[in-house]
Amino acid sequence: MQVLKQTLYMAAAIAVAILFFSCRKKKADKAPDDAYVPTPYNIQYPSYFPAMHIAEDNPLTVEGVELGRKLYYDPLLSKGGPNDGKSCSSCHIQQYGFTLPNSIVLPHINLGFNSNFSWKGAVSGTMEDMMKFEVEEFFAATPANFQQHAEYPTLFKRVFGSETITHKELAYALAQFFRTMISSNSRFDKYLRKELQLTPSELNGFMIFNTEKGDCFHCHTVGLFTDNQFHNIGLDSVFTGENQGRTEITGMPTDLGKFKTSTLRNVALRNSFMHDGRFTTLAQVIDHYNTGVKKSNTLDPIMTKPGKEFGLQLNALEKADLIAFLNALTDESFITNPSLSKP
Ligand code: HEC
Ligand code: HEC
Repeated sequence: MQVLKQTLYMAAAIAVAILFFSCRKKKADKAPDDAYVPTPYNIQYPSYFPAMHIAEDNPLTVEGVELGRKLYYDPLLSKGGPNDGKSCSSCHIQQYGFTLPNSIVLPHINLGFNSNFSWKGAVSGTMEDMMKFEVEEFFAATPANFQQHAEYPTLFKRVFGSETITHKELAYALAQFFRTMISSNSRFDKYLRKELQLTPSELNGFMIFNTEKGDCFHCHTVGLFTDNQFHNIGLDSVFTGENQGRTEITGMPTDLGKFKTSTLRNVALRNSFMHDGRFTTLAQVIDHYNTGVKKSNTLDPIMTKPGKEFGLQLNALEKADLIAFLNALTDESFITNPSLSKP
C-alpha cells in the first residue's frame, strides 16, 4: 500500500515536471514580448490600380498595421483634444465604407494611392503627412496618454524599435493601417477578373461611364474611380463661403469651385453627395450631370465639350443603367473585412 502510494506520488511529480518544462519550452520558442522584430507585410492590390506609394522610412509591417488599426478605433487618441471622446471610427464607419452616411465625411477607401486629401486638398503629400495633420491638428492627440498606457509602449517598440511615442509614431502607425484599407472586390472587380458577368443594365451603364457618352471616366478613372485631382463640375456659378473650394487653400482665383474628385467605390452606401451634401440620391447626382451643369470661368472644359452644351442628354433608361453600374462598385467584403474592423 505504502509503495503504491509512493509510486503514485512519484508519477504525479514527474507529470507536473514534464508539463512545467514543456510549457517553458513553448514560451522560450517565442520572441520575448519587447523584441524589435517586425514582420514584413505583403500588400496586395489589382494590376489596374496605380502603384502604391510606401514611404521609405515607414515600411509596412504586420505589427505596424495592427497598431494603426488599434489606434483607429481608440478614443484615447482624442483625449483632451477638440474631438474628445471620439475615435476615427466614430465618423468613419466600416459598414458604410468608412464614412458617415448623411454627412460630408470622406470615405477611407484606397487612400494609400492618393496624394491629395480632403475635399479642398487641405493636405497634399504622403499618407504620413495626412496622418500627421489628423493627429496633431484635427485631434490634437496627446502622446503622453499613450506613453503612460500599460500596453502601448511595448506595442510601439515592436513596430519602431523604441518605446518613445510622439505624434510622428502615432501618425506613422495609422498610415500603415490606411494603406491596407483596400477595396477591390466589388461586382465590377469580379467582372474584370472574369469571375462573373455583369447584367445587361450594369454593362450598358459601364459603357456610358467609360465612353464620351457619359464621360465620367475622365475624372473618375476606372480602377480607383478618382483621378485624385480637383475640378469644378458646375454645381454653382457664384462662389461664396464653403463653395469657393480649392481657392480657400491656394488663394488662386483659378481654383474657384474646384473640389477633389471623390471615389465612386462604395458610393451607393452613401446618401449625401458632393462637398456640401446637396444631393441625397444618386439619381439627383446623375440629373446634375445630365441637365444641371452651371457655367462659370473655372468650369471644367469636359463639362461643355462640343456636343455636350446642353448636358449629356441621357434618357431615363440610360440614367438607370448608369446607377446600376455605380451600384456594382459596392464591395461587400470590404465593409465586412474582419482585418479592418475593431480589434
Ligand atoms: C468628427 C468626425 C470625424 C472624425 C472623428 C474623424 N474624421 Fe476624418 N473626416 C471627417 C470629415 C468631415 C472629412 C472631410 C473633411 C473635408 O474634406 O473638409 C474627413 C476626411 C478625412 C480624410 C480625407 C479623406 C480623403 O478622401 O481625402 C482622412 C484621411 C481622414 N478624415 C482621416 C481621419 C482619421 C485618421 C481620423 C482619426 C484620427 C479621423 N479622420 C477622424 C470627419 C471626421
Ligand atoms: C470633370 C471631372 C468629372 C467628371 C467628368 C465627372 N465627375 Fe463626378 N465628381 C467630380 C468631382 C470633382 C466631384 C466632387 C464635386 C464636389 O463635391 O463639389 C464628383 C462627385 C461625384 C459623385 C458624388 C460622390 C460623393 O461621394 O459625394 C458622383 C456619384 C459622381 N461624381 C458621379 C459621376 C458620374 C456618373 C459621371 C459621369 C456622368 C461623373 N461623375 C463625371 C468630377 C467629375
